[in-house]
Formats: sequence, C-alpha cells, structure tokens
Amino acid sequence: MTTRNVSAIPWTGARKISSLLLVNIGQLLALRLTTNGPRRGAALSELGIIRDAAVLCLGGKIVSVGTMKDALRDPWLKKNRKKITEIDCGGRVVLPGFVDSHTHPVFTEPRLVDFEKRISGSSYEEIAAAGGGIRSSIDGVRKTSKSALTQKIAVVLKDLAAHGTTTVEAKSGYGLNLESELKSLEAIRAAARVWAGTVVPTFLGAHVVPPEYRGRSQAYVDLVCQEMIPAVAKRKLAQFVDVFCDRGAFTSDETTQIFAAASKHSLALRAHVGQLSETRLGPLLQFSPASFDHMDHVNDADLAALAQTDTVATLVPGANYFLGLSSYPNARRLIDSGVAVALATDYNPGSSPTLSMPMAMSLACTQMKMSPAEAIAAATINGAWALRLADRKGSIEAGKDADLAVFDVSDYREIPYWFGTNRCALAIANGVPSSRISCGAN
Ligand code: NIG
Ligand code: FE
Repeated sequence: MTTRNVSAIPWTGARKISSLLLVNIGQLLALRLTTNGPRRGAALSELGIIRDAAVLCLGGKIVSVGTMKDALRDPWLKKNRKKITEIDCGGRVVLPGFVDSHTHPVFTEPRLVDFEKRISGSSYEEIAAAGGGIRSSIDGVRKTSKSALTQKIAVVLKDLAAHGTTTVEAKSGYGLNLESELKSLEAIRAAARVWAGTVVPTFLGAHVVPPEYRGRSQAYVDLVCQEMIPAVAKRKLAQFVDVFCDRGAFTSDETTQIFAAASKHSLALRAHVGQLSETRLGPLLQFSPASFDHMDHVNDADLAALAQTDTVATLVPGANYFLGLSSYPNARRLIDSGVAVALATDYNPGSSPTLSMPMAMSLACTQMKMSPAEAIAAATINGAWALRLADRKGSIEAGKDADLAVFDVSDYREIPYWFGTNRCALAIANGVPSSRISCGAN
C-alpha cells in the first residue's frame, strides 16, 4: 500500500493511477441517483452525505462507496490493500467532480476595452452594437493556428481541474466561418486528449451573425445548416449544437431551422435563451433540447411547460455578476415551479471570465437564494443531466467514472461560503489524481 496525504499527490497530467482508496473522508457527498431524471424541487437538496467515509476506485471507475468501518472490513480490500494507492483525506469533504456544462474556452484575448466601457456605464448590448462584444473576438481566433488554440485550451482545462471541475462542456463560437469553427473544435479535441477529465464539445456556429454576413442573417443560417453542421457531424467534432437565441443574435425561427438541421445529423441540442430578452421556448421545446441556458427572462406558461420536461435550465450567475447587473435569474421561481436547474460558469472573455464552479455556486447562494446543498447538486448531478452524462458523471456511486473533488473544508457549506479563494485540494478525473495545493493539514 502507498499511503499519501492529499498534499503529497503531484500534478500527474494524464498519468493513470489505476487503484485508489480514499480514506478518512469527513463528509462524502454521494449525490446518489434517487430520481429517474434530473433533480427538481426538494430532491435538489438531497446530497446523500456519508460521514467518516471511504471510496475505492479501480481502472478509472468507482467500485465501492461506504463508511470507513465497512471499507476496512471488506475481504477483497483486506487482501489487495498493498496494491492500492491510498489517499488520506484528513477529514476533508469529498464530492463528485464538478460538471461545468457551459463554457466558451476557444478565444485568444481578454476583452479589456469592453470591461472598461462597461465600468463607465455602457451595456453589453451597446458595446456589441458599437463593434465590441462577441464579434471583436472573431479576428483573434481566425488568425490563430490550431496548435496555439490547443495550448490555450489546455491551460484552461488544467485550471478547471485545479478548481474541482472534472467534466466540461466546451463550445466553439468565435470563428464563425467554416474553417475557423472546424479549427476551434479540432483544438478542443486535441486539448481534451491530453487532459485526464472529460470534455463535451459543442458547435456554436450560431453565436452571432459575423460581420461579412451583416444584414443577411438568413444566408448565414443557411451556411450553418447546410455546410457547417454537416461538416462538424461528418468529422464527429461535436456532441451538441448550441444557438444564441436572443435579441441581437438569432430569432426563434432561425433557431428552429438550426435545431432541425442538427437533429437531422443526430446532434443533440442546447440553446442560450432569455439572457437579454424573453425567448419563446415553446417552438424550441419540441426538439427536446438537453438544456436552456441563462434564463433571466421567462414567462409563466413557458416555465410550466419546461417543468414537464427533462430539459435542464442552466443558470450562469457569473455573467450577471461580471456584467454588473443588479438582477439575476430567478432560481427560486424555477426550482419551486419544478424546473430542473443546473449551474455553470459560462467561462468566456465577454460576460464571464471565471472558470471557478465554487464562485458560480457562491453567487447562486448569495444572489439567487439557492441553498448550499441545492448549489452543489446543480453543479454536479444536474450538470451531468444537462450534458446527458448522468449515467457516468455527477455522483459518487459504484459503476460511475472516478471523478471526485477533495475540498480543504470540513463542512460542505464552506464550498460556496469561502468565495474568491480556491479550496480545492485535489481533483480526481477518470481515476487520475492531481493536487493543486499543499494543504498543510494531516
Ligand atoms: O453566454 N450570450 C452569449 N454568449 C456568451 C457571451 C459570449 C461573449 O460575450 O463573448 C454568454 O454570455
Ligand atoms: Fe454562453
């Protein structure tokens, strides 16, 4: 047996450690699947806490989960303990690795001019209309090589793991022509290959209409539907197609055309909706998208319809925070209506340059009045539902992928409580551990 405390695990990159036993876990948040679908209502608060717990992982999968007492009595473990790398968690909290189901990591530069303009009083939409915003990130991506983009994404992935995220959805969406959208998705794929965690690629060719199609949005939608989606599908570069369906981006009718083309090519669907104005969800719901994201503006009838489906409402409070808005999506209204809610960072250079899920959770608690337990379930198991990965991700159960995060806290409520500081001590992705900090404890 090799015994290591959390602070002694080196950054291991993609090295496989096939047998791991985590012991002395103060609180294990198992998030076992108790419902046949994403968590909603009261079920969103059920964390399935096991105190003084242990978890055994073999070959990248979770094999058993229980109390220390049960683990130490297990005959197989007794016999094989010498062959297993043991990690002493020193009474810390262990939870499923976060599932960040909404990020835009393929860009080259921060948008600092937009940042200053907003501080001086301009709005996100005013800045976009004046040539800033999403369109100002296009040039950088078009001019940058695939390998340089890959390097940038790889740095983001490493940083995500350092904050406890082990599964991430990654969108294209700043290339906005065939060549640069394919290049962006290829860069996502190349970066994913050297990361221990799991990357879910999404094609967001319909982010905004690029400048060369100004005033000809239907022609751009035709390009997305007739050339880009078939090319992406043929190369198996994405699992999802996303559309920014909002004022100043794409209409409900255009989104319907794009959803139909994506469905024809067996790609799953998600959409940015209701961020700037109310989006009519009815026509889009017919396509059973995995997720509607942002959801700042939604009417009661659409909410009631949404509650009857497994489409997850993914809330991204980092965007509201960074855009300096005083209002946030009404999470309580959504949860109390029976809608399944997830949380994500929306990591991007314009509206949410954070890749910290604990920060998104802290904002969810303080600004949207979600409880710490709800925020944790929304950032793990419901994120997994939003990516259609709940059979593998989002909870700590035998048979699931060995994706775990060890936090240097003794109570799970501290995770959203200590905002602006990273308490993640160790992330384990598909059975591969990597520690970020030397915690000093033990
Ligand atoms: O989710 N709303 C659309 N897309 C991003 C913003 C992207 C950007 O500003 O670069 C979002 O907030
Ligand atoms: Fe987004």
